[in-house]
Amino acid sequence: MPLLERPQPRPGVLKIQAYVPGKSSAPGVAKVFKLSSNETPLGPSPKAIAAYNAVGKHLEDYPDGAATELREAIGRTYGLDPARIVCGAGSDDLLNLLARAYLQDGDEAIHTTHGFLVYPIATLGAGATPVVAPETDFTADVDAILARVTPRTKIVFLANPNNPTGTYIPFDEVKRLHAGLPKHVLFVIDAAYAEYVKRNDYESGIELVATSENVVMTRTFSKIYGLAALRLGWLYGPAHVVDAVNRIRGPFNVNAPSIAAGVAALADVAHVERAREHNEKWLAWLTREIRKLGLTVTPSAGNFLLIHFADAETAKEADTQLTSRGLVLRAVGAYHLPNALRMSVGSEAANRGVVATLAELMGKKG
Ligand SMILES: Cc1ncc(COP(=O)(O)O)c(C=O)c1O
Repeated sequence: MPLLERPQPRPGVLKIQAYVPGKSSAPGVAKVFKLSSNETPLGPSPKAIAAYNAVGKHLEDYPDGAATELREAIGRTYGLDPARIVCGAGSDDLLNLLARAYLQDGDEAIHTTHGFLVYPIATLGAGATPVVAPETDFTADVDAILARVTPRTKIVFLANPNNPTGTYIPFDEVKRLHAGLPKHVLFVIDAAYAEYVKRNDYESGIELVATSENVVMTRTFSKIYGLAALRLGWLYGPAHVVDAVNRIRGPFNVNAPSIAAGVAALADVAHVERAREHNEKWLAWLTREIRKLGLTVTPSAGNFLLIHFADAETAKEADTQLTSRGLVLRAVGAYHLPNALRMSVGSEAANRGVVATLAELMGKKG
């Protein structure tokens, strides 16, 4: 082989479309409402902030690399064995670790058309090929996923509920998907928004992990716990998957202030309940009010909603107008949804501001 002029990343790396996070500013606007990354308008528990600050006095010490206190607190909150939990620097970290541990060149990992963008990034980064399964009504389609399984498939990624669509599949369907997968395929259920879901037929993945050898569930502190800045996530999986991930993760992949804040956030049950109630009320209100304007809103089980406009131009116009008023939503062209905008459920002022602005826009289009 001829010598190369400079180092080359593995081929899949250069196929990655780098993740572009939601905008966080609105130039020239004094008051900005960031509704672009599904963060909580209530912020974290004040107890989590206090715990975080307390650790700030001891930055010279390494954290506990096993995040034992945090795994035990998660175990208490969710009724899980702490030995089957791994914490990570956000669930992104864990999704990438799973891809690195279970994929190699020539393998395939399936995700759905409007699935969370980290899946193809993690897949390509691990040298494997992302395979896209079409959705039905912006919802994961179990038959379409199963139809794309080949001997090369090593992972199926399913966000339930999914971002950016907000749709979910009921537990029966999750079980049917699992039952159809060969035993060597790792089924990754990303339940980043599980705490927000109020549906009788929903199950986050805990039960399936507990009863099978090839299912992993990932969770995050970035959403209902309001700790996105800290980058804190966790997974619950079979002992052999936990072992594999522990071998390749950074030895101190979760920092000490985050561990402390996570433990305190879990303990503040009342704060989490307030966040859930706020979301339930305003998600329903926003869906109703935006639909009244003649726009289509995909039914959401999370803390955000997907608003569909007549065409990409109108979506862009709406985005520009909202941003000029400090209401920063998420354009979702990268998710193959050029006609839509995704909005996090915000504070009352933000929610009312979005509806009023959209009403003006739709009035003009009238
Ligand atoms: C479906 C889904 N999974 C995972 C994540 C990543 O969360 P974290 O902040 O824990 O990396 C997000 C964040 O937007 C998400 O929407």
